[in-house]
Amino acid sequence: MAGGEPLLFNHRPSSEHSNDRDIAEEDALLTGQPTARRTTSRPWAFWREIGLFVWAVIATALVVVLSVVYQRAQDPKPSQSHPSGKRNLIFMVSDGMGPTSLSLTRSFMQFQNGAPYSEQLVIDQHMIGQSRTRSSSSLVTDSAAGATAFSCAMKSYNGAISMDPEHNPCGTVLEAAKKAGYMTGLVVTTRITDATPACFAAHVNQRQEEDRIAEQMIGNYPLGRVVDLMFGGGRCHFLPNTTDDSCRADNKDIVAMAKKNGFNYVSNRKQFDDLKGGKNLEFPMLGLFAETDIPYEIDRRNENDIYPSLHEMAEAALTALSAATKDSEKGFFIMIEGSRIDHAGHHNDPAAQVHEVLAYDKAFTSVLDFLKKDPTAGIMVSTSDHETGGLATARQLHASYPEYLWFPGPLANASHSAERLAVEYQEYTLDGHSDEETLQFVKNSIVNGLGIHDATDEEHKTLLADPALSLYAYAEMISRRSQTGWATHGHSAADVNIYSSDPVAAKALVGNHENTEVGDFLREYLGVDVAAVTKELREKGTGLMVTDAEGKKVSWTGEIAEEGVRLDGQNHLASYGGDHKKRHAQHGRACDCGH
Ligand SMILES: *[C@@H]1O[C@H](CO)[C@@H](O)[C@H](O)[C@H]1NC(C)=O
Ligand SMILES: *[C@@H]1O[C@H](CO)[C@@H](O)[C@H](O)[C@H]1NC(C)=O
Ligand SMILES: [Zn+2]
Repeated sequence: MAGGEPLLFNHRPSSEHSNDRDIAEEDALLTGQPTARRTTSRPWAFWREIGLFVWAVIATALVVVLSVVYQRAQDPKPSQSHPSGKRNLIFMVSDGMGPTSLSLTRSFMQFQNGAPYSEQLVIDQHMIGQSRTRSSSSLVTDSAAGATAFSCAMKSYNGAISMDPEHNPCGTVLEAAKKAGYMTGLVVTTRITDATPACFAAHVNQRQEEDRIAEQMIGNYPLGRVVDLMFGGGRCHFLPNTTDDSCRADNKDIVAMAKKNGFNYVSNRKQFDDLKGGKNLEFPMLGLFAETDIPYEIDRRNENDIYPSLHEMAEAALTALSAATKDSEKGFFIMIEGSRIDHAGHHNDPAAQVHEVLAYDKAFTSVLDFLKKDPTAGIMVSTSDHETGGLATARQLHASYPEYLWFPGPLANASHSAERLAVEYQEYTLDGHSDEETLQFVKNSIVNGLGIHDATDEEHKTLLADPALSLYAYAEMISRRSQTGWATHGHSAADVNIYSSDPVAAKALVGNHENTEVGDFLREYLGVDVAAVTKELREKGTGLMVTDAEGKKVSWTGEIAEEGVRLDGQNHLASYGGDHKKRHAQHGRACDCGH
């Protein structure tokens, strides 16, 4: 097109050094006046130039027309990109899963299955773009600001549960979906009160206010009940402090409140099985299957009789939501989270992480299967709120220049998470044992739990020195042997991947986007009015006060953190469902995890 442009637009350089003859010929062609030299000395060249000119004009016009047509096809108005009729939206969140989590898990899967290097995870085959994750307060987001970007399509500060940077509540896509007549659901493997699920159906200034979040999520807040189904952990935030399994600061019985609001409540594997994969499920449904987090998949797979898996919960929820909306005008919106990929990143535990990602991949497959079979139009979009751990599938262990190697073997040898081994070790030390006995316990845990047979005296010493730090010490043993690198026990600013079941309908998310554009997509796909919800929240919420555990009157969105106070939920434990309180007393420093 270099020749076409000057012909059409005539912005040729005026320089004396430009090709004067070509310019003269161009002018001649444009004005229709032949140049003297061409007509006199080379008449055939004149007709050749005419031909070229006509060709250039036609080609230019063609390119313009084609690019306009292409642009239209690529970039329809968002309102044209979703089906006009009934539709379902399944939003999946892989908390803390960066691109390297996929490399790690894919290589592990190939190693374990003896599969060729071309073998991919299911999720690999559906990547459409990337999301930039920074929050309004930091280049490194936390899950609260990350999920607020999805729920409110707004950048806010780390710690915000669907609150804007000025501490006003912002309406969420789930709340707006409920108002518009969709059914709604949340399925997670962490506490249902944790930041990601909370951001869809609660509004508080500080994410660690999980007691308050529990109350809001069951409908005790200005909008009333907006969630039709919740599956996950976090039971302890729903039980009064007078019961053993409670982690609430007050004596409110949130399960009783939920029942009063109409919820059917299930809390164990048997009751989950009685739901018959969702065919026997009555709405609204509250299912809390662990006191805190559901165990890591690497541990849960041996406790399948106690805890349902992510894909089982997802399948039951989808089956029930599909049946319940069969005859209605609107479909449903559900958020399904692989919550603990993030925790494995915080723990720097690569063995726990690969099993979390594989479990997510399985749930992802369940969702694809559902969409294929379900008669209602629907889409799945999957992304992460951020990367966790600064994970690298390489690690330099010595000062000398490293060999280019990463080993999945040590991950395959581990049968337990570092978290589980640390909890068992700490419980063991509670009972009082001799140093000799404790050393033997630690040695056994390394061989039986991690499949490591070459532990060093130094490693034994580290584990004996501080049981409270044993979680990191166990995880480090696997990381070193597999040469897995970690930059942090926290989050990183890495871009994360976006996946979809339908790259055409999710066209708006193809390429590299701000995380808030994922939020834009969700509300636009559903065609819901989130601004109206924001307005309603502010009208009904203004001046609304509630009583806190100490009997003090506070705003319904809780207190605003003081400047400089960490907002990222450091006081919460990531732990398997068990004797929460006992471990709470024991965990100590190694457990600033679970955010
Ligand atoms: C339980 O909650 C009540 C307020 O609801 C509070 O007064 C009491 O101190 C709490 N008890 C414990 C042990 O935390
Ligand atoms: C894995 O365990 C086996 C024994 O079960 C052992 O021989 C092997 O060295 C272990 N591999 C690694 C990488 O630790
Ligand atoms: Zn997160």
